[in-house]
Amino acid sequence: MNRIFSGVQPTGNLHLGNYLGAIRNWVALQKDYECIFCIVDLHALTLPQDPDALRRHTREVAAAYIASGIDEKRTIIFNQSMVGAHAELAWLLSCLTPIGWLNRMTQFKEKAGKERDMAGLGLYAYPVLMAADILLYKATHVPVGEDQKQHLELSRDIAGAFNRHYGRDTFPLPEPQIFAASARVMSLRDGRRKMSKSDASDYSRINLSDDPELIALKIRRAKTDPERLPESPEGLEGRPEAENLIGIYSALAGISPEEGLKRFAGENFSVLKEALSELAIAQVGRVGGQMRRLLAEPGHIDGVLKEGAQRAAAIAFPILEDVKEICGLLRL
Ligand code: AMP
Ligand code: TRP
Repeated sequence: MNRIFSGVQPTGNLHLGNYLGAIRNWVALQKDYECIFCIVDLHALTLPQDPDALRRHTREVAAAYIASGIDEKRTIIFNQSMVGAHAELAWLLSCLTPIGWLNRMTQFKEKAGKERDMAGLGLYAYPVLMAADILLYKATHVPVGEDQKQHLELSRDIAGAFNRHYGRDTFPLPEPQIFAASARVMSLRDGRRKMSKSDASDYSRINLSDDPELIALKIRRAKTDPERLPESPEGLEGRPEAENLIGIYSALAGISPEEGLKRFAGENFSVLKEALSELAIAQVGRVGGQMRRLLAEPGHIDGVLKEGAQRAAAIAFPILEDVKEICGLLRL
């Protein structure tokens, strides 16, 4: 059986990278897979959060899922901390994970910064919790943006380590699903950095909550280079801002980047920016508007999350019980 698990952290400022690189791609998967989409609030705590803001952001991510077309009747939507089995399995897996594997994680190095000794143990152990999220449901496929590829490879390694250690095929090795067209949406201010929730510059990302004027302004101000757009894809090399704007336009238009470039070959950036603005306003406007309507009625969202947690727990706890048995923990 094929089962999908993925998640987004409720750390605020859901942006176009989250939408194009992740959430939007999940909608079509519901047709062919059993899907579980989580709001990973335990992951959010790996960096300091304001408690009220964390609760608000958790509901916002749930609203973004539903507004983007995730069907809460068919698909399970829930927040991670409602199912205690995630943290329990993370512990069991952490006992089989060599520290050397975690030392290779580039995201930890970025997030921990210079004062690595002061980083929290949770931030360091985060990829083990992510492996637990996936393996707890024996998920076979995990759709994510490219930035999560390394964490997913580690999840596969951890699943393999468990299976080998206990000599059984307990966990399937989860396959990454990375949708090439929009796997990496970069900052509008610096084409070499990814668009991220934590970027201090508000002009670096388009948020799902932005209104049309703000979206248009951010795109007008997006960094460019002094040349016209090239005639062929090779001409994009060494021009990260041009590549990014063409990439975003193409993802929104639902065409390949090559096709997108053809439409603007030899043009000024202003022509591309105008077309991009129109598409972004239409799509972000639709999702953002629906999110606002949903958030005006938090009772509905809370009901979806509560029911989702019950359905998730019904899958997770039997698997956790089985794993505990395999590990030799006395079950009474
Ligand atoms: P996060 O914002 O780290 O919670 O990521 C949630 C999902 O969005 C993951 O699947 C990420 O890979 C994806 N994602 C985050 N930022 C970007 C980006 N700039 N471009 C493409 N995908 C992204
Ligand atoms: N680490 C992911 C991110 O920051 C979020 C995440 C947590 C996740 N657990 C997961 C994604 C399990 C996929 C599967 O984007």
